[in-house]
Amino acid sequence: MTRFFTQLHSSNAARLNLTHIQDIFPPHFKPGLSTAVHNQSLPLKISMVTMRSLFHLKEQDRIGWIGLGQMGYNMAQNLQRYLASRSLNMTVWNRTPEKCAKMHHHGAHVAKSLEELVAQSNIIFTSLANDAAVEEIYEILIDLAGQVDHSIIFVETSTIYPTLATKLKERLAVTPQHTYLQCPVFGRPSVAKAAKLLWVTSGDEKAIKKLCLYFTTMSRQIIHLKTTDVAKACSFKLVGNFFVVGSMELLAEGLTLAQKAEVDEAPVLKFIETLFPAPSWIEYSNKMAENPVQPKSKSVLSSSSSSSSSSSKEAGFSVDLGLKDVGHMRQLALETGASLPSADLAYGHLKTVQDQGLGHQDWSTMIRSLKIAPTPRPSVDSTVLSTHSQQDEKRATHSRSEKGGSNNGDFWDTDGNNHPPAYDS
Ligand SMILES: NC(=O)c1ccc[n+]([C@@H]2O[C@H](COP(=O)([O-])OP(=O)(O)OC[C@H]3O[C@@H](n4cnc5c(N)ncnc54)[C@H](OP(=O)(O)O)[C@@H]3O)[C@@H](O)[C@H]2O)c1
Repeated sequence: MTRFFTQLHSSNAARLNLTHIQDIFPPHFKPGLSTAVHNQSLPLKISMVTMRSLFHLKEQDRIGWIGLGQMGYNMAQNLQRYLASRSLNMTVWNRTPEKCAKMHHHGAHVAKSLEELVAQSNIIFTSLANDAAVEEIYEILIDLAGQVDHSIIFVETSTIYPTLATKLKERLAVTPQHTYLQCPVFGRPSVAKAAKLLWVTSGDEKAIKKLCLYFTTMSRQIIHLKTTDVAKACSFKLVGNFFVVGSMELLAEGLTLAQKAEVDEAPVLKFIETLFPAPSWIEYSNKMAENPVQPKSKSVLSSSSSSSSSSSKEAGFSVDLGLKDVGHMRQLALETGASLPSADLAYGHLKTVQDQGLGHQDWSTMIRSLKIAPTPRPSVDSTVLSTHSQQDEKRATHSRSEKGGSNNGDFWDTDGNNHPPAYDS
């Protein structure tokens, strides 16, 4: 032990104040919340192995970042902030070079080419829009990685289909000194900005342990899947996103019902906040509402900005990207024999919005498809209809005559038959 500290003091690492070892962790990170590999009682009982790797950061780790979109920029900014506090800098590259300027302002070095970034980095993060972009960029990266002597850990954070992750890992394995990690993230750009992402890891455990500190600079919690099967992290991400989009489908339908039934929106939002106080429910119901309310408290996956009414129109996750994710989860369901009817519905609603030229808008815009587009009458079990039909038909006829006309085709039967509403009771 004494010898270890003597060595530290004689190295560059001695610049770190050993009495303030907690400084090396980002202040927001809660190791106790994490299932991190080295999470026990951090930072007080930090292991000697971790300690040693931390003190060697300065000499060894050269971080590169590819993809400075909404997620990539916010994540990279937090990591760069941490590195800068240790007098380190990352190297960045983005297809549209103008987007690198802000990172340059934060102290990052801007690579002129992917070749330069690969030559300078031994850890490379990627955050790219979709499978095609990831495949295209990794084609180049794998080729370049085959030409360098040093080893590189690639950390792919985009939401991609599981088989692509496996393919990239296998292709990279041709040059055995390199490592491929698949680490998708949960949380919108505003959550990424607040360094509160939920980070998921898969791949080589040693590499994950080495990089854990960096992950904590961008996230609030880490879920280690503890598997070298990188496809699993992609499947996990799709399962997680299914819960999100499934909730959105439910909210969109419920809020549309409230509007059509002329139930005031504010008490409905209040009801959701009280009965279903999940961050995503509160956030998306507010985004879908025409008059969002201010939530009382901040949540783990929300940041102050993401929840405010002013940001309710923020394009955090676009309809285009949403269709990509929902398409992936439906494909995964097809391949595995699962059934995802809610995802099928959500896909249709997102597609309608995209067809209206709104693919760039936040995916909560899917509610438009329910509110505006003609909705086919859902099919109903004939026994249910026969039980209620006479009573319902009377009530429906009465309601239509009270409103002074026939139905306008957006909730009732689209074939012109005046059947009762499917779920009226
Ligand atoms: N937004 C969210 O809420 C959220 C949350 C969790 C996970 N994700 C996932 O994170 C990833 C990034 O999402 P985002 O919201 O940051 O998307 P984004 O804002 O659209 O950014 C996409 C990034 O990919 C780059 N890109 C696209 N096509 C490319 C190509 N062919 N070659 C090179 N670069 C290319 C873009 O470069 P340019 O700047 O040149 O266009 C940009 O840097 C996606 O996989 C998404 O599913 C998003």
